[in-house]
Amino acid sequence: MSSKITIIGAGSVGSTIAYTLSNEDIASEIVLIDINKKKVEGEVMDIAQGTCFRDPVSIIAGEYEDAKDSDIVIITSGIARKPGQTRIELTQTNVNILKSITPEIVKAAPNAIYIIVSNPVDIMTYVFTKISGLPENQILGSGTMLDSARLRCGLSEHLNIAQKNIHAYVFGEHGDTSFIPWSGAYVSGVSLDEYYETVEKMGRNVTKIDKDAMLEYVRTSGGQVIANKGATFYAVSVAVCKLVATILSSSDSVATVSSMMHGEYGIEDVCLSTLTLVGPKGVQGKIPMRMTKEEVEKLKASADALKAVIAQIEH
Ligand code: 2OP
Repeated sequence: MSSKITIIGAGSVGSTIAYTLSNEDIASEIVLIDINKKKVEGEVMDIAQGTCFRDPVSIIAGEYEDAKDSDIVIITSGIARKPGQTRIELTQTNVNILKSITPEIVKAAPNAIYIIVSNPVDIMTYVFTKISGLPENQILGSGTMLDSARLRCGLSEHLNIAQKNIHAYVFGEHGDTSFIPWSGAYVSGVSLDEYYETVEKMGRNVTKIDKDAMLEYVRTSGGQVIANKGATFYAVSVAVCKLVATILSSSDSVATVSSMMHGEYGIEDVCLSTLTLVGPKGVQGKIPMRMTKEEVEKLKASADALKAVIAQIEH
């Protein structure tokens, strides 16, 4: 596939995205940019030396001008979350970094689709939307893609069924106010309650999901990985590469990415994740999944929490 992807930030997340992309037939050209030249050159050398074992892909340590004609730009720059630190505590520092990057990268690649990955991702997506001057369809945040993947992983283990058969999502902030709209959780078109009944009739013993515990598992997974190994980067990188493949494909896909709300569920002027149609032209819009009144209230509470942070930061 002939496509050019630029990644800003050669930390664990940016470098792992570059490595993952180099191992898939997604990009023909990858540009990795970081202020730490030594680090970015080392990462590129390490990744490039493995590429001869598969289809050729060009990967360079570049400057902003090298991002020219990129199809997609992925922003991962920022200070990573430390053990015990919330994503929100990172905010002003990472917003300042984003503000310093934005004019240069947007000048070099004004037509690219931008995927924001830096945390707190919903705030960073919002700030980028406000300061970049780019059309909104060109901007999305990785949002709760990873949380939704963690949910599917947890449900798959609990129900002992393939992840591909599970359709369930995490909505709201990628963080402490995220929630699971259980009314949209299905096992291949069958509601969870119907699924329990069906498998019980087959003589299988399936315990009902503890919904609070599942939400806790999803919300705390990132923190747990950070506490254990210092950072999270594999799962988020695969999620971002999936998004890249979606954008470069010929059809749209539905994903829980963060993008600007325009009155959906009565929410506006904040970026968060609900079902979103994403494809070659970037963000096409939010898909209004039917939710209970309580679930809509949870989404509004998540929006309010993000707005309270936005009100406190300078952007
Ligand atoms: C995660 O949830 C740290 O946001 C990152 O893995």
